[in-house]
Amino acid sequence: MSNFIWGVVQSAFQFEMGDPLRRNIDARSDWWHWVRDPFNIKNDLVSGDLPEEGINNYELYEIDHRLAKDLGLNAYQLTIEWSRIFPCPTWGVEVKVERDSYGLIKRVKVPKEALEELDGLANRREVLHYLAVLKNLKKLGFTTFVTLNHQTLPVWVHDPLWTRSDFEGSRARGWVDERNIIEFVKFSAYSAWKFSELVDFWATFDEPMVTVELGYLAPYVGWPPGILNPKAAKKVIINQMVAHARAYDAIKEHTKAPVGIILNIIPAYPLNPHDARDVKAAENYDYFHNRLFLEALNRGRVDLELDWNPVKIPHLERNDWVGNNYYTREVVKWTEPRFEELPMVTFVGVEGYGYSGNPNGVSPDNNPTSDFGWEVYPKGLYDSTAEGAEYGRPVYITENGVADSKDILRPRYIIEHVEEVKRLLENGIDVRGYFHWALTDNYEWAMGFKIRFGLYEVDMITKERIPRRNSVETYRKVVREGVE
Ligand code: BGC
Repeated sequence: MSNFIWGVVQSAFQFEMGDPLRRNIDARSDWWHWVRDPFNIKNDLVSGDLPEEGINNYELYEIDHRLAKDLGLNAYQLTIEWSRIFPCPTWGVEVKVERDSYGLIKRVKVPKEALEELDGLANRREVLHYLAVLKNLKKLGFTTFVTLNHQTLPVWVHDPLWTRSDFEGSRARGWVDERNIIEFVKFSAYSAWKFSELVDFWATFDEPMVTVELGYLAPYVGWPPGILNPKAAKKVIINQMVAHARAYDAIKEHTKAPVGIILNIIPAYPLNPHDARDVKAAENYDYFHNRLFLEALNRGRVDLELDWNPVKIPHLERNDWVGNNYYTREVVKWTEPRFEELPMVTFVGVEGYGYSGNPNGVSPDNNPTSDFGWEVYPKGLYDSTAEGAEYGRPVYITENGVADSKDILRPRYIIEHVEEVKRLLENGIDVRGYFHWALTDNYEWAMGFKIRFGLYEVDMITKERIPRRNSVETYRKVVREGVE
């Protein structure tokens, strides 16, 4: 019997809210505040859709688990939401912190007394909720993957509106501030202490570079805190690396389960492969977007100054598995360095390709594009996963899917991407699982409900899950036939 992992994946903020009586709202995350900010709505930075009108997985999780089971899946991936567990600050809980010669946090000791104190601060109802969710998954025989940070942060850690309007004055600046590493480690330690019997695989972060690129380098895309601040971006990179490593250590105090990180490894191809500058642009893209984290956490090679001179920091070499979220590629061309602090940012995505396409069209290479405008490019799944596997850790494809409300592209998208998984395996690349994004529609961040990724459509009024039949049957068949 094959051990290959077949799953679906959800994050907390994008799926949980939506019960008609609004009993399960989580109003304590940065994104909660962000998406209802009048300035953001007025300036079309966000859609105006609100997550509390959403999927209601919080109440309907048993239905969703059953749908996943009926697809023949053996794994389910979800996020435990930090702001639900700790709606109020944990600053006061004492832990022991040690630093290395660079001043980086190399050890955070969370003693038993601290865990008990955290237990007093935790929202009991939410703890019980996640215990019930995980127990139900185990009862159904799923392998469970739990992520501790999928973009959202508690508002006491990150107030994006305050940070945008007064960066220096804000006392809740998210990953810019090193003290948040310590709070994240407390949350991670607490989660492992509470839930580890029910969790088979842990992930610290989901897509840390998205936080960097969209939050601090592209103020017009609707991602909190929506500022242009390369210096802050640099800090956010390093602080997330340290937070990963220290959370890794904290989780390992309570479990032997593998702890990994989920990256969106994006393969970048030069627009003109015969132009040395475009080739360099693609290399720089890869270095910045993909390799910084891969190198630091798998090899302890950390480019602290972001000047291509990595130093060896063994206490950051912490990783048991790599998650790869793959949707599409980038085709890039050269541009002169855009930020002094980030000298490798010498690339721009070329219009029409990858993430820069037009909705429901074709790319210059004649590949279809999704409702989101993203180019369908299955080979990129091969290239990005092979890159992730270079580091000697098993790779799980932790997200793959397409925005396609009419279900025109999705069935073929699934087949073609799973073909690439087969090719990876045939070539001896250690890929061990595939998760589809997503079982149901979701709240697509700044885009709201317009963008539909679900195998099951969700009627946002009745919350009914309606199969997109072709895709549901395709995924079921692909899973039944397997990859080996
Ligand atoms: C993110 C999801 C998001 C999906 C589609 C992924 O990169 O992890 O949160 O919904 O992309 O945009």
